[in-house]
Parts: sequence; structure tokens; C-alpha cells
Amino acid sequence: MKFFADTADIDDIKELADTGLLDGVTTNPSLIKKSGRDFIEVTKEICAITDGPVSAEVVSTDHEGMMREAEVLRKIADNVAIKVPLTIDGLKTCKALTSDGTMVNVTLCFSANQALLAAKAGASFISPFVGRHDDVGYPGIELIGDIRLIYDNYDFPTEILVASVRNPIHIHDSAKLGADVMTAPPSVIKAMFNHPLTDKGLAAFIKDWEDTGQKIG
Ligand code: G3P
Repeated sequence: MKFFADTADIDDIKELADTGLLDGVTTNPSLIKKSGRDFIEVTKEICAITDGPVSAEVVSTDHEGMMREAEVLRKIADNVAIKVPLTIDGLKTCKALTSDGTMVNVTLCFSANQALLAAKAGASFISPFVGRHDDVGYPGIELIGDIRLIYDNYDFPTEILVASVRNPIHIHDSAKLGADVMTAPPSVIKAMFNHPLTDKGLAAFIKDWEDTGQKIG
């Protein structure tokens, strides 16, 4: 499973990159606003931190506008993936961009039918939003299972990029279902390390070692 950081915070991205766990980055207009940074500049900086895909989202809602913005965004770096919404214009843009080799991440996916359309449009990645489904009382993880089954039925190459990940359980359950990628805030990725028995066990090892009075080297 590939781990993408869902943020435009440069310090958080660098910290995660230092762990060796960073395979890519996703941003969206809300994350850019939260960063307080210039969209093009911060995307350029992110592309210099990781060689993996960096999703940069168009903000036009019509095909012509999306294509214009995609031209600007894909010039930033070779590892830019253009993010488009799951709309008719978004998938028209997806088809046009992927047909000339540009990576496309189709976002705001909330149904398996939408994911089927994105795969048929040649999407590089599909981003089903798990957390926002949970927010309205639908078990969002079931969407991941449905998409995995449908994609496997037809050998679609589109990678399932689980988004709107709010906790390590989302990651655990998505990995069990065979999702290709997950994107999460770095804090959620770091929370995967946490287990009280690991902390307790390490403290006991250190205490017992100190009692031996020995040193290594
Ligand atoms: O990549 C999409 C993600 O940023 C949405 O997350 O928590 O706003 O649903 P959230």
C-alpha cells in the first residue's frame, strides 16, 4: 500500500519524508487555503520533496477551464497529478489528459458507479472519500470494497486512492481490502505507530538493561 500525505504543510511533509514512509502527496483547494501559501509555489516545493505523485486540483468546473488550468499545473513538475472532480466535465478532462500521458486523480468520489466511470475515463487514481461517508452514517469502508471488486472484475489499472482518512482504522480496513494507496494527514499516519503495549514493553526492556549496568560500545 502506498502512503500519501494529505496536506500542503511543508514541514509536516518533510518530517514524514524523513521517515521513509512518504510515497506521494495530495492537496485540494481547502488544504491550500489552510496552508496560507501560494498554490503554484507550495506545489513546486512539495514536488521537490518527493518523487512520488503530487496531486494538484483544478478549480474550474468546465472542461475548457480545467484543461487551461491543467496546462499550468502540469508544467510545475513531472510528478504532478492533475486532480479533477467526478463530474462529466471532470471525466472529459481526465480522458483528454491521460490520453497524452498525464497522471489524473479523480476526486470527490462517493459511489462505486462514480468509480466505474472514472476507470472507464482512464483515471490514474480514484479518490473515494471514506470519512465523509462515515460523517453521514454510511460505512465508508464498504465503498472501498465495492470499488476493489468492480475494478478487479475488469482488470482496470486505475489505482484506488483512499481519501478522507480520519484514523488508523480507515487505513487498516482499506489495506485489508487491497486499496492501492491511502492519503491521510501526517498525524493519522503517525498515530499508526501508537500501541500502549509497545510503550510498556520498551520501557521494561530499557529498565532491565539499565539494571545490568552494561553498555553497548
Ligand atoms: O483528499 C481529500 C481529503 O482532504 C478530504 O478529507 O477530512 O476533509 O473529508 P476530509
